[in-house]
Amino acid sequence: MDKKVLIDKIKKLKEEKNAVIMAHYYVDGEVQAVADYVGDSYYLSKLATKVEQQTILFCGVSFMGESAKILNPEKTVVMADELADCPMAHMVEIKKIEEIREKYKDAAVVCYVNSTAEIKAHSDVCVTSSNALRVVKALPNKQIFFIPDNNLGRYVAKQLPEKEFIFHDGFCHVHKSIGKEKVLKAKELHKDALVLTHPECTEDVLEISDFIGSTSEIIDYATESDCQEFIICTETGVLYELKQKNPDKKFYPVSPSQCCPDMKRITLERLAEALEYMEPEKELPEEIRSQAYTPLARMLELAAQ
Ligand code: 13P
Ligand code: SF4
Repeated sequence: MDKKVLIDKIKKLKEEKNAVIMAHYYVDGEVQAVADYVGDSYYLSKLATKVEQQTILFCGVSFMGESAKILNPEKTVVMADELADCPMAHMVEIKKIEEIREKYKDAAVVCYVNSTAEIKAHSDVCVTSSNALRVVKALPNKQIFFIPDNNLGRYVAKQLPEKEFIFHDGFCHVHKSIGKEKVLKAKELHKDALVLTHPECTEDVLEISDFIGSTSEIIDYATESDCQEFIICTETGVLYELKQKNPDKKFYPVSPSQCCPDMKRITLERLAEALEYMEPEKELPEEIRSQAYTPLARMLELAAQ
């Protein structure tokens, strides 16, 4: 179908179905362009508690739609693509949490939102990349079991020497693939560029970066900066908003592997189909949903302080 016709169809269906389209910065630019709201994980989870429409059409990976459903059980959450899932969300098991709780009785289980609803249900508090530092700092516990992302956990730990961290070994394959060598090569090619990096990258990449932040923090930093060139160490979907906001600045990804195959499953065609048939709907067993609500709500409360 012609793109223009498809976009018109999406707009019409959205009105008919009383739906709001939310998208993460990692989906394709053309999908971001038809969304009502685009943002990072923290922004989208906050927003999910505020929208008026009965249906949320989510353009992102599974855990993002799950968070929207956990926070809004009375709303219909439809995923643009059923199979878009974050591999890191499955990198920790409940058994591991139980083992750590048994060994470290006072430890808080801090769960990166990139995790399944079941894992959230067994955690004390959730965090996203933009609020992790604030939320962990606000916890009364000295010991922190940070799951599943090892890199984000270490990044936060470095800034909170008063806490004792127990790390897990989860990782994002997309951010892990952005190696130090590739960043150094990009710096060599673009000597005046600042390096802007997501904290899911490995420690050696973080060490040679000028700024570390979530997707929306990277976009804000580049937009407010006087610098004209930036090396971008996160998924390439952010380039769309970076260029929208800064048409005269230059942005350089470091490698073709900076692309999340799960986020890129979401296309305009799939979005139109999901809206038309109102499926796949995100549903969760009520017991898991209500248990997962507490750590997510605690995150929103602590991050807002
Ligand atoms: P943000 O917290 O920046 O939205 O990141 C989400 C994510 O999946 C990073 O890979
Ligand atoms: Fe998961 Fe990485 Fe894709 Fe983000 S970029 S959704 S962490 S695989």
